Amino acid sequence: MAKIISLVNHKGGVAKSTSALNIAGALRDLGNKVLLIDLDSQANLTLALHREELEFTIGHVLVGEASFDQALLKTSIGIDMIGASFELNQFEIQIAKEKFSEFVLKKRLDLPQVHAYDYIVIDTPPALGVLTINALLFTNYYLIPLQADFFSIQGVKTILESAATISQFNEGLEFVGAFLTRFNKSSNKIIDRDVYSHLSVELGSKLLDTTIRENTALNVAIVQAQDIFSYEPSANGATDYKKLTEEVLERT
Ligand SMILES: Nc1ncnc2c1ncn2[C@@H]1O[C@H](COP(=O)(O)OP(=O)(O)OP(=O)(O)O)[C@@H](O)[C@H]1O
Ligand SMILES: [Mg+2]
Repeated sequence: MAKIISLVNHKGGVAKSTSALNIAGALRDLGNKVLLIDLDSQANLTLALHREELEFTIGHVLVGEASFDQALLKTSIGIDMIGASFELNQFEIQIAKEKFSEFVLKKRLDLPQVHAYDYIVIDTPPALGVLTINALLFTNYYLIPLQADFFSIQGVKTILESAATISQFNEGLEFVGAFLTRFNKSSNKIIDRDVYSHLSVELGSKLLDTTIRENTALNVAIVQAQDIFSYEPSANGATDYKKLTEEVLERT
């Protein structure tokens, strides 16, 4: 069975997509067969990794207009992908009308060829709506990327409350932890450290030790259709995402 990891935070721009891509890259470098699922209508990862227009996307798979095999893409970085498009908004509305709409992803993807992957990494949208719920009902482990501000703890609490409800229907769902991204970005680095200490008190061992430093190479890598390990393996971003992935593997 594949291990399924989702990156979740309803706050926008906290590095869900960047983390999904680079955790997938680190897992690939450890010799795993990895599938990336883009479940966000912004399609950031899809647009980055696959420049041609797609015939079939995750939206088509969710509504039964395409099979998993028809939507499967091979990327140039050795990670397979099911892409998204802006139309996912329309598909989401369509799905939401269905009975058991929260279970559609699981229903469509619980297949032998999907579980043949070692890891499936899911990038979710900045919302705790039907798509993120679908991801969490199909997920074994979820991670919360955070940016260092004093409001981030409230966001974590909201996600944990939603996940507690969802875990009644997915007993295997496990919160691996939250981690800080774009760390040391603030001109006053003391603020980042203060937020870390504050979160550490609130989250205890669920605040991961690894923090992802601000690193422009992470940004450039995506523009170049690559993960950080393919683009610049000596970058701080590569060091940090390798360490993060190792920490996640220790905890799962
Ligand atoms: N450690 C980092 N250093 C520098 N830039 C970063 C870092 N992590 C992410 N970024 C940049 O921050 C922006 C937001 O990141 P990303 O798109 O991964 O966030 P997101 O949570 O997926 O956003 P959304 O909620 O809109 O989907 C991107 O431009 C990304 O390249
Ligand atoms: Mg994103």
